[in-house]
Amino acid sequence: MSKIILNGKFEAKKIIKTLKHKNIKAKNKISLAVVLIGNNPASQLYVSLKEKKAAEIGVGFKKFLLPATVSEKKVLNLIDKLNKDKKITGILVQLPLPKKFKTEKIIGAIDVKKDVDGFLSSSICHPGLNCHRQFFAVSESQERCRNKFGMTKRIIPPTIAAILHLIKMSGQNLKNKKVIILANSQEFAEPLKFLLEKKKCQVAVKLKQEITDYKLQITNYDFIIIALGKKHFLKPEMIKKNAVVIDVGISRIGKKIFGDVHPDCFKKSKYISPVPGGVGPLTVAYLFKNLLQLNCRGNSRHFGGQA
Ligand code: GUN
Repeated sequence: MSKIILNGKFEAKKIIKTLKHKNIKAKNKISLAVVLIGNNPASQLYVSLKEKKAAEIGVGFKKFLLPATVSEKKVLNLIDKLNKDKKITGILVQLPLPKKFKTEKIIGAIDVKKDVDGFLSSSICHPGLNCHRQFFAVSESQERCRNKFGMTKRIIPPTIAAILHLIKMSGQNLKNKKVIILANSQEFAEPLKFLLEKKKCQVAVKLKQEITDYKLQITNYDFIIIALGKKHFLKPEMIKKNAVVIDVGISRIGKKIFGDVHPDCFKKSKYISPVPGGVGPLTVAYLFKNLLQLNCRGNSRHFGGQA
């Protein structure tokens, strides 16, 4: 059976094209503020990719580069200023933060109306802090965005939206299927599990620390979503024939980029999203889709600049 590559790059181009048109039609200038703390090279690269896409779509991009030595108070003050700034539509704090910062406190300071990552409406908080339900409660009630038909839409974290898009591209129905998420963190896995379960599939999560065995057997799963950041971790003998495999992992070795899925899996799975060219470009596209969606809430209505 021949494999089908889920081409995220191609799909992302279509979304960006629509966003360009929407941005031209917007009555106000739409702007994204990005806060980058420290000098993590991967984060610097991701921020520069977002900056390029912002220019392509024609939305504003304000970058705040802070040294890793910056105090928590200064970061919180900046976020507060951005929350109040009518010219800023959405705010993104690039993760991971340097170790001394409490991620949930920094992200939690962002006004939910400007949370372009959708973290506050899907819970990035550590379960121990018990804010999971609180953030869901916010998103399920007033913090939704009306589309042109008056329907409401939730801001979904772009990576999750990209994964759901790739699964949809496969044309494979999730209902009653078995899905496994192999992930580095619960913050990533839990909101994804929550949204997948709405499609009536059975979802299992295995976190990095539980995966000590390189002979992992997941041959009974129809869908595999892998985000471990371990080059070519997933081998064909681990997976079911014709499984749908979504590769969310990225490892950088020199100038080359590798996914978590070994190339031999391409022979066994039927639908596979590659790295690069799969989830990455779609994630950036969905980030800007969220930004334009936030704009319909009127965050920056009072700023009368040109698009
Ligand atoms: N770092 C890696 N992925 C993401 C993301 O989706 N959002 C933010 N803010 N930081 C990231």
